[in-house]
Amino acid sequence: MAPTASISRRQREARNGHRGVAILLTGLPASGKSTLAQGLQAALFEQGRHSIVLDGDALRGGLNKDLGFADSDRLENIRRASELAALLVENGQIVVLAMIAPLVELRAVFAERLGADYREVWCSASLAVCEGRDPKGHYARARKGELPGFTGIGSPYEPPPHASLELDTGVLSAQQCVERLLGWLAPGLDSGEPSF
Ligand SMILES: Nc1ncnc2c1ncn2[C@@H]1O[C@H](COP(=O)(O)OP(=O)(O)OP(=O)(O)O)[C@@H](O)[C@H]1O
Ligand SMILES: [Mg+2]
Repeated sequence: MAPTASISRRQREARNGHRGVAILLTGLPASGKSTLAQGLQAALFEQGRHSIVLDGDALRGGLNKDLGFADSDRLENIRRASELAALLVENGQIVVLAMIAPLVELRAVFAERLGADYREVWCSASLAVCEGRDPKGHYARARKGELPGFTGIGSPYEPPPHASLELDTGVLSAQQCVERLLGWLAPGLDSGEPSF
């Protein structure tokens, strides 16, 4: 059979009824990125929109299993996520990335690869709040010296200076954060050009 013309991004977006876009939820460990990514996805699903969550933990458990936390590995972790996100955006998906991505220079990899299709959301709960939550016990282990280079304790987290949206996940409830995310995101999804 003769090869047929490929289906364009615009055709996929027209079929989906919304544009493709990549949203990074960035913040300290335990700031609420995964919780909000799942909440946002559930809300988008209810609206009949097509989304996928790329969670840093899940990526590190599979696609990026070979990577550690050295600077070069953190960079490769982000590079692979950005390539995957670009493929999915091209496929008309709303890609919700839940990744610490602690440094400005790491997040720049997403910005460069995804261009106008990329937005940053800062989950800005403070170190004290995040450490107080510590659902995985990682902060406690880091304080004992068992996790050298753990973000927030042994290595820095640089807040995004130009986040499109800041959510104080230490003050707002998860439900309030999801409502704000949706209110910010939804209008921009309906247009051909990003308006958010
Ligand atoms: N406003 C909020 N937004 C998100 N999570 C919240 C909020 N308030 C409280 N939480 C709680 O904080 C915890 C955040 O855990 P979560 O695993 O989502 O963080 P994370 O940023 O994905 O961490 P990690 O970097 O370790 O993956 C959860 O127990 C969640 O219920
Ligand atoms: Mg998480």
